[in-house]
Amino acid sequence: MKNKKNKKIRSPFFYVGDKYKLMPQLLKLFPSNINNYYEPFVGGGSSFLNVEASTYHLNDIDLQIINLHKELTRDTFENFLNRVYQIIDKYELSISLKGRIPSEELRTKYKKTYYAKYNKTAYIKLRDDYNAKSDKDYAMLYVLLIFGFNHMIRFNSTGQFNVPVGNVDFNQNVYDALEHYFNFKDSHKLRFYNLDYYEFIKKIEFEKNDFVYCDPPYLISHSEYNKLWNEEEEEKLYKLLDYLNDKGVVFGISNLLTHKGETNKLLEKWMSKYNVYEIKSNYISRFDNTIKENSREVYITNYE
Ligand SMILES: C[S@@+](CC[C@H](N)C(=O)[O-])C[C@H]1O[C@@H](n2cnc3c(N)ncnc32)[C@H](O)[C@@H]1O
Repeated sequence: MKNKKNKKIRSPFFYVGDKYKLMPQLLKLFPSNINNYYEPFVGGGSSFLNVEASTYHLNDIDLQIINLHKELTRDTFENFLNRVYQIIDKYELSISLKGRIPSEELRTKYKKTYYAKYNKTAYIKLRDDYNAKSDKDYAMLYVLLIFGFNHMIRFNSTGQFNVPVGNVDFNQNVYDALEHYFNFKDSHKLRFYNLDYYEFIKKIEFEKNDFVYCDPPYLISHSEYNKLWNEEEEEKLYKLLDYLNDKGVVFGISNLLTHKGETNKLLEKWMSKYNVYEIKSNYISRFDNTIKENSREVYITNYE
């Protein structure tokens, strides 16, 4: 198959719930020839970055993640990197890529949290300055995301970015993921949308060999974006996929069937009319080392 790759690519947003580790398994199950690739729940983009298609239509209801994607796609790698380095230097954050790392003393004293200890004051100053600006600087938001706890993007009800400092910094992995993203966007046709998935799908005039890949919030797991999800949304999504099936549009959807002893009964019932593949995810999440216990990930398609 064309899309089969051995190397998995990670998005430079290191998004919570990103699919990159599962991509080698999923790609083997994706259609081999994709014209328009549609992703209604794109998140950080670890899925599309691993797929070959003629055009990519990438949607998410989260305006900030879409704006970050747009910011990267309109810039060059060198320029964006310079903007990021300038911010890191101005606030004197650590940058292990260039050898500016916490002292031996700090590393010995705080064995597992020395990046957080080193960066905390600078990070809070950067966060305050970002929040005070009316004209938002997305390179600043990107630096906050890289140095923030679990690489989260979270705002309070008054629109203030409120993630605490994380125990991470700008390292070789971040550089590599950014470089790959820029190479990818320079050689592929990407279009971004900030709509509800339903509206996004309903507007599409499908063509031959188009493919819709869905990685929605999971009903039975917990993360920031799951707040937007409930049983009603889940059923609405299944109806929408049934509608695509009736129109002859090819789709695939990732989901979690069981998790910590709980089963998604709606999914169990709905998926029985389609093809179901088990996806092995026996790694331990770095966000919660119990997260994959007793979990069953599935990939469901309406094509063979
Ligand atoms: C599981 S994550 C996708 C992760 C992505 N595959 C990746 O690799 O980064 C689900 C995404 O759905 C988005 N979302 C939640 N409700 C939505 C809605 N009603 N319409 C569109 N997107 C939505 C969230 O903002 C989140 O980015």
